[in-house]
Amino acid sequence: WMASAAALAVAYLLGATPTGYLAGRLLKGIDIRQHGSGSTGATNVLRILGKWPALAVFVVDVLKGAAAVAFAGWLTQWLSSVVAPAGLDPNNLLPWTICLAGLAALLGHSRSVWLGFSGGKSVATGLGVVLALSWPVGLGAFAVFGVALAASRIVSLSSVLASSAAIVLVLVLEQPLPYRLLVIAGGLYVIARHRANIQRLLAGTEPRLGQASPSPR
Ligand code: G3P
Repeated sequence: WMASAAALAVAYLLGATPTGYLAGRLLKGIDIRQHGSGSTGATNVLRILGKWPALAVFVVDVLKGAAAVAFAGWLTQWLSSVVAPAGLDPNNLLPWTICLAGLAALLGHSRSVWLGFSGGKSVATGLGVVLALSWPVGLGAFAVFGVALAASRIVSLSSVLASSAAIVLVLVLEQPLPYRLLVIAGGLYVIARHRANIQRLLAGTEPRLGQASPSPR
């Protein structure tokens, strides 16, 4: 359990690293939460700061998620080799630790301790988590995102569809139960984070790429 608790804390803190917020502060001296959609994610960085900062934030946010899962795996293996738990098979513990660490990273990104528990919508960090967990599920969801974005030019719609695709893929492809639970819970969490976007989508007011931004949450 020590390994799990440590992995969880590290995963949360990795997720909570406020990349988009730092980009706004460093590049323009602004609080990005006061601009555009109010999110600290790469989409809002694209709106407010431009293409290259958005790409950098996207890549780092994906890496945060992947690193959280990778670290959880490594720590569990390492600790169980050092302190052999009596009657406990580390291979049973590992998928559950990874499951919780993935969720902690998502939570960290959108409820960052450094930003008064605000943040982004955990799409890029979620992609990193899923890619590290099962690359076929991650690539499948990313492909759905790409096709939806090309067709609609609306990032939020593409994110919601990609999250739904990840849930379907993890159920269809052979995956351990903890991974399934992680992707289902994480996918639903990301969709729930898009509440305001979904309302705008239904009202037909969600901006497409390059269009004027919505007002902050
Ligand atoms: O990655 C988040 C995206 O799906 C929506 O972002 O800023 O348009 O609310 P935003």
